[in-house]
Amino acid sequence: MKCRKCGGAAVLELRRHNVAFCAPDFLEFFRKQVSEAVRRHRMFTRDEAVLLAVSGGKDSLALWDVLIEAGYKTTGLYLDLGIYDYSKESHAKCEAFAADRGAALLTVSVEQEVGAPIPEVRAVTRRPTCSACGLSKRYLMNKAALDHGFPVVATGHNLDDEAATLFGSVLHWQTEPLARQSPALPSTHPKLVRRVKPLYRLSELETAAYAFLRGIDYIVEECPFARGATSLMHKEILNRLEEASPGAKHNFLYGFLEKARPAFERVAEVELHECARCGQVTTGTVCAFCKLADQVKRAR
Ligand code: AMP
Ligand code: FES
Ligand code: ZN
Repeated sequence: MKCRKCGGAAVLELRRHNVAFCAPDFLEFFRKQVSEAVRRHRMFTRDEAVLLAVSGGKDSLALWDVLIEAGYKTTGLYLDLGIYDYSKESHAKCEAFAADRGAALLTVSVEQEVGAPIPEVRAVTRRPTCSACGLSKRYLMNKAALDHGFPVVATGHNLDDEAATLFGSVLHWQTEPLARQSPALPSTHPKLVRRVKPLYRLSELETAAYAFLRGIDYIVEECPFARGATSLMHKEILNRLEEASPGAKHNFLYGFLEKARPAFERVAEVELHECARCGQVTTGTVCAFCKLADQVKRAR
């Protein structure tokens, strides 16, 4: 296999693009996909301070690496979920990465904000773990950005994550999540910061290859409360489709974004208020995060 750019020996074949690259040209391709995502969806400019949510995994650390190299102003945000050794190790990976590059890292403790670490929240709510965890993460990312004056939060969601989420929403025709599924969500309220996903054009395999080639030390283990079996199953089904017809995932997601999403956007316009307790946005009177924190407090 030869590199499409330089004709040298290729290290990676990207079947969905029908190309192969040597290591330096793959890194270049990867960086270009990120800058294309940022440009196309006007995610942020070089003058804006970007708060990048980092989990210690390959995706968010690869993204941080690309953004630092490209000269963007980034600060990392690590949310300490209090999940035993998994959280300790992933925090250590983020700290080491930041120290290595002289980058700033904020850490927010879920235990302090919600009243208990995720394993305990899980026992209290009896909801699927990741639903309380996902709710807390989204809330705390927005809160940290507001508290520290960042206009935008970036996450490391990749093409596989986005295609799997889309697949799950389509299977149940969940119109609200479909309207919100986008690489860039604008701020629709002064208390809601922009949310962007600069890796949406890159697959899990590609971010893993980037992290490997750049020597990034990331946490390989998944959260021990393995994400809902259904989302893993959706990824598996999409991988089988991709195997049989390279580009299937990418066509599914991009086709939705270009052709179908606008239709859902119109249906799902909701009115936002400020939560009576914490002041963050909600569609009701008290936000879901404050209700969760109450429930945890009562149980303690
Ligand atoms: P996941 O839902 O675990 O696939 O994570 C998707 C993205 O959410 C990651 O790429 C990060 O940007 C962000 N994220 C997940 N967990 C954390 C965490 N504990 N702290 C900060 N950001 C996180
Ligand atoms: Fe949410 Fe594990 S429970 S990441
Ligand atoms: Zn609230």
